[in-house]
Amino acid sequence: MANPNHLLPPDKKPKKQDIIAAQKIIADISSGVYRSPAAALKELVSNAYDADATKVTITTDAPNFRNLVIEDNGTGMTIEDFLQVVTHIGGSRKRMDGETSEIFKRKLIGRIGIGMLAVAQLGNRFYVSSTVKGSKKRFAAEVNLEPFHRDDAALKNMAKIDSDGKIQIGAVRYVDDLPESSDLQYTVITVPDAKKGLISEMTSAVRRAVGATEVLTVEKPTIKGFADLVRIVRSAQRADLVLDGYYYMLWELALLAPLNYLPGGPFEQDDRKIEGASKFSPPTIESFQLIVDGIELFRPQLFPNTKAFNYSSPDPKLYLLDHDRMVAGRRLRFNGYIYSQQPRVHPEEFKGVHIRIRHVGIGKYDKSWLGYPFDEGIKFGQVTGEIYVEDGLEPALNIDRDSFRETDVHYQAMRAYVWDLLRTKIFPEFKSRSKKFREEHQAASEATIEKLFDEKLSKLSAPITGKIVFKTVSEPTLSTWIGIDGTNLIVDKSKWETFLQTNTISGDAAKRFLKLLRVLISSEVLSDLNPEEAENLLEALAVAVQD
Ligand SMILES: Nc1ncnc2c1ncn2[C@@H]1O[C@H](COP(=O)(O)OP(=O)(O)OP(=O)(O)O)[C@@H](O)[C@H]1O
Ligand SMILES: [Mg+2]
Repeated sequence: MANPNHLLPPDKKPKKQDIIAAQKIIADISSGVYRSPAAALKELVSNAYDADATKVTITTDAPNFRNLVIEDNGTGMTIEDFLQVVTHIGGSRKRMDGETSEIFKRKLIGRIGIGMLAVAQLGNRFYVSSTVKGSKKRFAAEVNLEPFHRDDAALKNMAKIDSDGKIQIGAVRYVDDLPESSDLQYTVITVPDAKKGLISEMTSAVRRAVGATEVLTVEKPTIKGFADLVRIVRSAQRADLVLDGYYYMLWELALLAPLNYLPGGPFEQDDRKIEGASKFSPPTIESFQLIVDGIELFRPQLFPNTKAFNYSSPDPKLYLLDHDRMVAGRRLRFNGYIYSQQPRVHPEEFKGVHIRIRHVGIGKYDKSWLGYPFDEGIKFGQVTGEIYVEDGLEPALNIDRDSFRETDVHYQAMRAYVWDLLRTKIFPEFKSRSKKFREEHQAASEATIEKLFDEKLSKLSAPITGKIVFKTVSEPTLSTWIGIDGTNLIVDKSKWETFLQTNTISGDAAKRFLKLLRVLISSEVLSDLNPEEAENLLEALAVAVQD
């Protein structure tokens, strides 16, 4: 219970003081909060998606990476729109007129008003040029954040706070009356001097320094299309072991951006059947392409992994997720899948669960499955999943759109749903499916051996390929207790039991004995012996088959 003495006393008038954020925080946000180059580029791609573009083209000036251009054919901005945007960082107006885009009715991704600053993470200075349909003009603007990002000391002096407490983080110069055809619309962002860190990341400078060698490098681009890259990664332990910095960036951007899966992906059954896959239909995005340096990107998930094609295990299995309920007065709707496969899932980056909101990937795969509270041993490495959130959870997103606030009720509800499915269905099924597989496998191999045995027997001179019948033998032709009837072997039931007991054989040894017996009879060895010789031979055999 809260002690009222430590709260505000009701009989006193409290004094007041405003809460103010340090300039550094604003500066940090404006210099980019995105984890990686791909996470930053994803923001620009998302903006184009929200603007109803059908095509985004990125050129990186590979292998130098000095000059980046991001171009889209979306609805564009007027200079007034643009100035409003850059002068009101963090004040997104995107969802003022509804939750969906005008033309394609896409659920809007943007909501905060900082995504465009992702460019600042690629370079301190950038240009934006844009035009809207119906206008005969376009604008070109230079955004310069450089003087404000040199270091903290410079920042202290240069960041000015105006009378409303606003902080200047950069400056814009623009020209707004450049001629343009009125039926065009586009936005082009140019980053002329990419940051050194970005360049060294893309050129794998640090990897080179320690002698790393990847399969696919920007110096030796051996792929024709994105499908080739996905195939390389599909059989790799880790994507970052086979891709250099540049290709890893492409791979990660493909994972995060609002794109379709590769045609036929993410589940391809050409080489191995997947139980439950027929019920899954992947989400699709209409009329949206992302092309980087001439390569069209697609979501890179593709299962089963190459190693699973001929692996002696139950078939991979797909479990579908489906949740649609009100949680704390807000709708939480998501679907998706959890896929299990033996041996473990490759690449490492796909282990765990990946969450998408409005088609955009949030951060990396969560290997802990949202903090799953049980130790499932080796099985934990054999599952991967994706959650496509349709409604809800958005307020739990942190501003970098890379992680969640775990205290959010929607996050917790999602967690409970996933954990329950893993704990009560998926992991227990590993056991039961493996057991069933083993038994079927054993039965199948026994059947194959039986068939082979019959084949071999039939090559002998008097093949006994029929049944073994246990009954009283009235005419023991081969020994005192064994006879034949056509291709069937007749064994005297009570004498057989005595024989087993006196020679202490049972189970598999007894089965082997009967097989040997059939071989001997089929090759007419036993019929040449007198009863006493036969009895001695049978007793010697009984010892021979013992374990
Ligand atoms: N490629 C683009 N085409 C058209 N308008 C754009 C484009 N990029 C940005 N804008 C405009 O700039 C605004 C700011 O973009 P920004 O990404 O910073 O914020 P947002 O998308 O609204 O929200 P969030 O921070 O969540 O991404 C957008 O709301 C949009 O009006
Ligand atoms: Mg945005």
